[in-house]
Amino acid sequence: MKLADLRELAEAGARSAGELLLGGRPETLTFETKTTPTDVVTEMDKAAERLLVEHLLGARPDDAVLAEEGGATQGTSGVRWVLDPIDGTVNYLYGLPGWAVCVAAEVDGVVEVGVVAHPAMDELYVGVRGEGAWCNGVPIAVGEPTELAQALIGTGFGYAVDRRTTQVAVLTSMLPQVRDIRRMGSAALDLCAVAAGRLDGYYERGLQPWDLAAAGLIAQEAGAVVAGLHGAPAGEDLVIAAPPTIFEALHDALAPLKPNEG
Ligand code: IPD
Repeated sequence: MKLADLRELAEAGARSAGELLLGGRPETLTFETKTTPTDVVTEMDKAAERLLVEHLLGARPDDAVLAEEGGATQGTSGVRWVLDPIDGTVNYLYGLPGWAVCVAAEVDGVVEVGVVAHPAMDELYVGVRGEGAWCNGVPIAVGEPTELAQALIGTGFGYAVDRRTTQVAVLTSMLPQVRDIRRMGSAALDLCAVAAGRLDGYYERGLQPWDLAAAGLIAQEAGAVVAGLHGAPAGEDLVIAAPPTIFEALHDALAPLKPNEG
């Protein structure tokens, strides 16, 4: 199988899901709660996920799928699609523009293609392992920040109260050390913002594979270091993403605050 084919399929799926979400959003959205009363899934998350799964498995029925709202489907081809139909569901629910559709293709367990659609901005981010990262077809690269004190840093919070209590303690210590903090509401778009040089760095605890897979590759391919603490891989414990010029400073500011605990 060619990566170009997976990329084409992923791009078309993310675009179609984005069109459905943008054009088909009812005036009043129905939703259910998930892990906490503030963690929601709307009828449109489910509709977009159905569209993505039908699109991808319609073309490649032997692939596996891991999707935020639908759990896991086994496959036999070695390709697994990791999907988030809406990253930034709370923004979508409130009619705010910061939400994205994430489609990643893993081959034998390694993310090779990542696509993040930001429909409200008409932007499509793509990353292909070893080949680069693009926004609307134009190559993107991280910025070259050097001073943590001048860095604009993105972050996000989990839905559980205990997790948030720890996260706010980390935030309280980080805020005086940087230019400012942004909490925009979509981890995938935060990572794409690092990729495009619109944020100088990003950190968050608690990301799930569907939040990280596509956008993490895009950030890496744009030149970011994407990792956890002390050389651990980026994952649910912690994701730190930043250009190489500032990664160590961000990491070293975070490490004593134990942002991977709680
Ligand atoms: C959430 C968003 C948010 C981040 C949370 C994620 P969802 O994803 O990415 O920015 O802070 O950790 O759970 O729930 O909107 O798909």
